Amino acid sequence: MVLGSLFRRLPAPGGKILVAYASQTGAAETIAWRTANALAGSSLVKVAALGSLTAAEMAEAGTLLVVTSTYGAGESPDSARAFERKTMAQPQAFKGLNYAVLARGDKKYDGTFCGFGKSVDRWLAASKARRMFDVICVDGDDDTEAMTRWAEQIVKLGGATRVEQLMPGPAQDWFLTERRLLNAGSAGGETWHIALTPRDAEHLNWTAGDIAEIWPRNADTVVDEFLTQHNLNGELSFRWRGHWTFLRDIIAHSRLPKPHEVEGIALSWLVERLEGFPAREYSIASLPQSGRMELLVRKAVREDGSLGLGSGWLTHVVAPGGVIKLRLRPNPNFHPPRDGAQILIGAGTGMAGLRAHLQYRQMKKLREAWLLFGERGEKTDLYYTDDIKAWQADGTLARTDLVFSRDASPKRYVQNLVSEQGADIARWIEGGASILVCGGLQMAAGVQAALVKIVGQEKLDQMTQDGLYRRDIY
Ligand SMILES: Cc1cc2nc3c(=O)[nH]c(=O)nc-3n(C[C@H](O)[C@H](O)[C@H](O)COP(=O)(O)OP(=O)(O)OC[C@H]3O[C@@H](n4cnc5c(N)ncnc54)[C@H](O)[C@@H]3O)c2cc1C
Ligand SMILES: Cc1cc2nc3c(=O)[nH]c(=O)nc-3n(C[C@H](O)[C@H](O)[C@H](O)COP(=O)(O)O)c2cc1C
Repeated sequence: MVLGSLFRRLPAPGGKILVAYASQTGAAETIAWRTANALAGSSLVKVAALGSLTAAEMAEAGTLLVVTSTYGAGESPDSARAFERKTMAQPQAFKGLNYAVLARGDKKYDGTFCGFGKSVDRWLAASKARRMFDVICVDGDDDTEAMTRWAEQIVKLGGATRVEQLMPGPAQDWFLTERRLLNAGSAGGETWHIALTPRDAEHLNWTAGDIAEIWPRNADTVVDEFLTQHNLNGELSFRWRGHWTFLRDIIAHSRLPKPHEVEGIALSWLVERLEGFPAREYSIASLPQSGRMELLVRKAVREDGSLGLGSGWLTHVVAPGGVIKLRLRPNPNFHPPRDGAQILIGAGTGMAGLRAHLQYRQMKKLREAWLLFGERGEKTDLYYTDDIKAWQADGTLARTDLVFSRDASPKRYVQNLVSEQGADIARWIEGGASILVCGGLQMAAGVQAALVKIVGQEKLDQMTQDGLYRRDIY
């Protein structure tokens, strides 16, 4: 017998299993639930947010499976921040606890790839828990290889599953129905309003706060040209990224190889070698009741002048009426909190997520919302003025504070606004208001620092725990 297997023998099926998740945008949480469902037939399974657990609850778990993502630079998702600071600050007494960690991350964050998952793994080992198998690092949604290893371990623990059941489902076809530049003449990057309708109306089904994952494509003309040039039949199907897919679609969603890379190679090998475009995420800016999905997309321009892969595709490449491969990702961490007063804070394309929430509040006739929003210039960059006026007119917005960085000297940003309005924000929070923050990382960090000064870290941790402080940040 190999020594490693002696020490790493998995517990017999039938015991207690705690599946703990920490997720910012919902992916790790979905995997946690799918894992729990796969195990529920053979074990007594409980699912909990990692951030809600005490060390004592973990010690009694029997078997602990942690499914987590990584944010910031190797940090935990928001919901586990206080847990990381407090419970993980020192080793605990976890002798007798079996554990394993599935860490979600993105390889583009080179030095901190799956950093938080690895920290949890090290901390559990230092707490004398027994590692059942090495931490499994998953690179984004399409890492079938890593997810297969996870599925195999779940089966060894007595679960009934296949990798396909743990992976996100296939993307759906949507059509570009409207595209409008919102900030002509802006000193900043172009921002576009994008509207999409699904091929199948049943996909008009999401909640404010959810995210659209979009796969950039090569233009149809480029795909046709490639197929003709290499005498390929686009109607053939291949297993690709875990799903049967037409060659035409595979080519459309891949970086196209140079001619000399293709000459004389077998078709199946070509398909295997094609590097698929990664998906890009966008906060949904509308509700399904409107019959369409709206996005607010900032066009990214690289130093060499080329367009960002995802934003370039959406704002310039796809033709009106063209097909967009899109998958809805539920983002429970940014769903509407309880129906009370609410402070909505954001900047730039952060208006997207806030708009969906304001539409939700308008639909439910909720009052007492306060919008604090920042952009560059009032004349060029104030999006959705008609919406804001309508929300003010019907009472959805009780208060609106806008700040435009380029119109003031020295520059003022939304985080400055938050600090200036500290006394009123503290009063709203005391009265039970929730806080939503949407937009870029730098803005969100500034806003968080301002909020900590206003209400203190403890209170903000408690609000996070209670689902009253929620962020959709990137
Ligand atoms: C949860 C979430 C929600 C989001 N919501 C929104 C939203 O509502 N609206 C929105 O506009 N965005 C949103 N984003 C950001 C969005 O997903 C994309 O990151 C953004 O559109 C840029 O992607 P891109 O493919 O266009 O650019 P990329 O091709 O990824 O390039 C982005 C930048 O990276 C650099 N770069 C990349 N490749 C190269 C290269 N080869 N050479 C030089 N520089 C390079 C450049 O600085 C470039 O500007 C969100 C992200 C997340 C995670
Ligand atoms: C702002 C931001 C920062 C991130 N930082 C890291 C990182 O440091 N290391 C890493 O591996 N992944 C990082 N990621 C990638 C996420 O961990 C990855 O997208 C993960 O699948 C998200 O899972 P979730 O939806 O469960 O939160 C980051 C993502 C974003 C949007």
